[in-house]
Amino acid sequence: MSEPQPTEPAPSTGRIPHGPFRPGDQVQLTDPKGRINTITLQPGKLYHSHKGSVPHDDIIGSPEGTVYRSSGGVEYLAFRPLLADFAVRMPRGAAVVYPKDAAQIVAMADIFPGARVIEAGAGSGALSCFLLRAVGEHGLVSSYERRPDFADIARANVEKFFGGPHPSWRLTVGSLEDALTETEADRVVLDMLAPWETLDAVAKALIPGGMVCAYIATTTQMSRVVEDLRAHGAFAEPYAFETLLRSWHVDGLAVRPDHRMVGHTGFLVTARRLADGVTPPARRRRPAKGAHPAPEAPGSAPEAPGSAPEAPAES
Ligand SMILES: C[S@@+](CC[C@H](N)C(=O)[O-])C[C@H]1O[C@@H](n2cnc3c(N)ncnc32)[C@H](O)[C@@H]1O
Repeated sequence: MSEPQPTEPAPSTGRIPHGPFRPGDQVQLTDPKGRINTITLQPGKLYHSHKGSVPHDDIIGSPEGTVYRSSGGVEYLAFRPLLADFAVRMPRGAAVVYPKDAAQIVAMADIFPGARVIEAGAGSGALSCFLLRAVGEHGLVSSYERRPDFADIARANVEKFFGGPHPSWRLTVGSLEDALTETEADRVVLDMLAPWETLDAVAKALIPGGMVCAYIATTTQMSRVVEDLRAHGAFAEPYAFETLLRSWHVDGLAVRPDHRMVGHTGFLVTARRLADGVTPPARRRRPAKGAHPAPEAPGSAPEAPGSAPEAPAES
C-alpha cells in the first residue's frame, strides 16, 4: 500500500496567493522610479513599456520577488498585488475604504473566521474583499448595494481579486433597510451616507452581543449615528474613533515623517447589540459642560456651548 501523500487544501477561490507565477495571475511590476504597473499573465503576451518589453512567458513559472530586464534594459521587480495594493488601485464606482480603516474595521468590529457579516453599501467592493478574507470560506459576507451599477463594479472587483466568485459572498441589490431579511448576524458593517436610517433593520438582524460598525466621513454624520445608537435602545454605549497613518522616510541619517500624508479618511463608530428587553445602563459620566442645551430660564439667554465657566462666588 502506498503512503498517504500530504495534500494541500483545495483552494475554493481561483486565487492562489503564493507559489510560482501562474497564467491568469495579476502581477505588479515596479520600475526603478517606484512606478507600478499591474498586468494579468497570459502565455505568449508581452508587457510593453516605453523602455522595451518583458515576455509574460519569462514571468510565468518564476517565484515572486524576481527582477526582469526589459528589452530596453529597464529592470522590473515583480510581486502579486497585496489586497491593500489592489484595494487602492481597483476600478471605482464609489469611494473605497482605505486599507488602514479596513484593518481597524476587521480588528475593532471583531470580524472572525466563520462570522456572519452583513455589509452595506458594497460600493466598489474593497471592504467586501477585506471582510471575505477575515471570515474565510466558512463564514458569510452578505453585502447590500442600492445602486445596480455600483453592485456590478463591486462584483467585478471581488471576482478579480479572488480569481472568481467567492463561496462566502452574497450580493443583494437594494437598500439595506428595505431588502434586509437575514437574522442571526454576528456583525453589521455600514459604509454609507446615512447609517442611522438602517438602525431598526440592523437591530433586528444582529444577535445579542453582535456588533454594528459604521464608517462615516464627517463629524456631523458621526454625531448623528452616535446619538441615534444611544437613543435607539437596542445598543450599548457606542465608541467613536479615527486612526491616522503617518509613513516615514528612512534613509541614513534622514529619518523623519514623510512630508505628505492622507490627513483624513473617515471616522468609525462601534456598538454592541443588547439582549432584547434590556435597558442600557444609565451613563454615570457627568455630561460635558455645554454638551446639552440647559433648560432656558424665563427671560434669560441660553448659554453658548463652550462659554467661559462662571466665576466662583466670593465667600
Ligand atoms: C462609500 S460607498 C461604499 C464603499 C465600499 N465600502 C468600498 O470599500 O468599496 C457607499 C455606498 O453605499 C451605497 N448605499 C448608500 N445607502 C445605502 C443603503 N441604505 N443600502 C445599501 N446601499 C447603500 C451607495 O450607493 C454607495 O455605493
